[in-house]
Amino acid sequence: MSDSAIISVRNLTVRFGTHTIFENVSFDVPRGKIFVILGGSGCGKSTMLRTLTGLVKPATGSIHYGSENLLTAYGNERLRLLKKFGILFQSGGLFASMTLAENVALPLKTSTSMPLERLSDVIAMKLGSVGLSGFEGHLPSEISGGMKKRAGLARAMALDPAILFFDEPSAGLDPVSSASLDKLIRELNSALGTTMIVVTHELDSIALIADYVMMLDKGERGIIAEGTLHDVKRSTDRRVRDFFDRVAG
Ligand SMILES: Nc1ncnc2c1ncn2[C@@H]1O[C@H](COP(=O)(O)OP(=O)(O)O)[C@@H](O)[C@H]1O
Ligand SMILES: [Mg+2]
Repeated sequence: MSDSAIISVRNLTVRFGTHTIFENVSFDVPRGKIFVILGGSGCGKSTMLRTLTGLVKPATGSIHYGSENLLTAYGNERLRLLKKFGILFQSGGLFASMTLAENVALPLKTSTSMPLERLSDVIAMKLGSVGLSGFEGHLPSEISGGMKKRAGLARAMALDPAILFFDEPSAGLDPVSSASLDKLIRELNSALGTTMIVVTHELDSIALIADYVMMLDKGERGIIAEGTLHDVKRSTDRRVRDFFDRVAG
């Protein structure tokens, strides 16, 4: 594994029953960059995120975060690894009956012993960093879809994760909110240096945020292209070409 990799995946095989989703997949995720996973519907993008965050158990392979293998770590070692991850789920994943401040407070209360007086400062800072200053007391139902995603992001960042995972962050958003979320993702990456792994199939988003791209394919049960967007766009693989020509063509 190179020094610049934060995650190193080797020979990963994932099955659901007799259905093989990934067969012998290997790749590195570079540290501090935005790594985009793309591919058609059902190729396993969400499954890959769930596998990298310990929610799906592979049949074989290794997933190293530094010297620690997520797949063999247990007890406190596994917990320490899981605390490195922040996850923004597709829906935003907010609790409807809680204010934005309470939603962001949740991981802080369960995973830290932060004193109450400091808690509100941290919550204000996290909501401020996603452009939601002043919305501490709002319920999710009182804000727009784009704001819900931002609030979900503030919660995902509550514990200062080393790696943020996003599953189709712009799904369900109008083009303006979607572009502004992409811009925020880019800004947070530059400001904090947090490694970000983003599943998307929006070509506009990919162009705006991707430092590296990895394209998965269902039939291949793995990777059909990877590299910078520039590299991947020059692929002569018909499946890759079809993906990028979709909108233009
Ligand atoms: N928990 C599960 N049990 C069984 N099959 C699953 C499960 N999760 C996903 N799958 C199957 O794995 C394949 C990949 O799904 P998914 O990762 O959601 O694809 P994508 O996010 O690229 O659309 C699909 O065929 C899906 O039906
Ligand atoms: Mg998915």
